[in-house]
Amino acid sequence: MSSALPFTDSEIAALRALRRDLHQHPELSWQETRTQDTLERFLRAHGVSQVERIARTGLVARIPGLDPTAAPVALRGDIDALPIQEATGLPFASEHAGVMHACGHDVHASWAAGAAILLARNPAASEVRVIFQPAEEVGEGARAVIESGALVGVSVIYGAHVDRRFPVGEVVAQAGPLAASTDSFSITLHGSGAHGARPQESADPIVGLGALILALQTIVSRRLDPALPGVVTVGAVQAGRAGNVIPESAELTGTIRATTPASRQLLNSELERIAHAVAATHRLRATVTLTDGTPPVVNDPRAADIAANAVRAVLGAQALVPLGTTNMGGEDFAFYQEQIPGCFMRVGAREAGGEMTAAHSSRFVADEECLFIGAAVLSECARLSCVSAAGSAATA
Ligand code: NI
Repeated sequence: MSSALPFTDSEIAALRALRRDLHQHPELSWQETRTQDTLERFLRAHGVSQVERIARTGLVARIPGLDPTAAPVALRGDIDALPIQEATGLPFASEHAGVMHACGHDVHASWAAGAAILLARNPAASEVRVIFQPAEEVGEGARAVIESGALVGVSVIYGAHVDRRFPVGEVVAQAGPLAASTDSFSITLHGSGAHGARPQESADPIVGLGALILALQTIVSRRLDPALPGVVTVGAVQAGRAGNVIPESAELTGTIRATTPASRQLLNSELERIAHAVAATHRLRATVTLTDGTPPVVNDPRAADIAANAVRAVLGAQALVPLGTTNMGGEDFAFYQEQIPGCFMRVGAREAGGEMTAAHSSRFVADEECLFIGAAVLSECARLSCVSAAGSAATA
């Protein structure tokens, strides 16, 4: 596959080595210092000289364009890892205990570097800013990049994610919703403690918590339009320290996913209503904290058109496939799309005969070949956008 792509053999070897090095040394959000050093060194060694550190542990590589009147274009790859103990058995598995590139950001960082190499060797019409974004997994990095000013003047931004639901060679590049919003919640039930043998003297927050967990499952099943995707997941519960003590309080935390602003609002308000109602049923008081996360990812039609053309140019029309099932994962690329038009793609990452291993699992691996596809498609997006920008400038 990669032999058809515009890399030399030595670049392919270097990009593979980069990806494996990043995979072997994963770093959590806001701790990507080695990753930042490695990427900066790699870029400078491959003819990308204007590299600047931004957003604490991120980078921007500026690649000058041929047409000074064309608006800059941005490409983004995220670089952080997850707090997961790797169990892939790869020869280049994580050397950092409890930290793993289980979401493919090692590949994203590498394909952004690959795109930078291609554009440095063969510049596009306008300047391209390749963003190496930290802290995507905690939903904070994109905002930090925006605050750094690295995107000032940029007309359009592209990014992509590896996806093992699709085989290597397939790419999703379409307009409209692509990923869900990711709000989080925390609910504390306050009761009164007592001896475990005398529950009548308590207001038991643990029994209330059990009822609340089940009641929350009715929000999506009974309140949300079945035609709209949505998720309410309780991911952590904490209560009590001893088997014969009814504690004073109990707490749960979780995540809410929605694909439209209206359903996002519904899920949040129902969660709050039910928490208070269930608490009252059990003579408890609820404290509900809702925290806004990333908005839904919604691709701009024009940017999506350019991305689809880039996929056709690099891989042929057969490579373009529809998303199919809505992705309920979140993606802080959405913050860029609040500022500037953009398109976020899904890049097939399943090797022939491979299993559908889930992202964020200890066995997740993105097939390495998709690195070259991501790099070539992203650089082509920049190239085609530059042509469009120059064209519109000429007709203005
Ligand atoms: Ni990811």
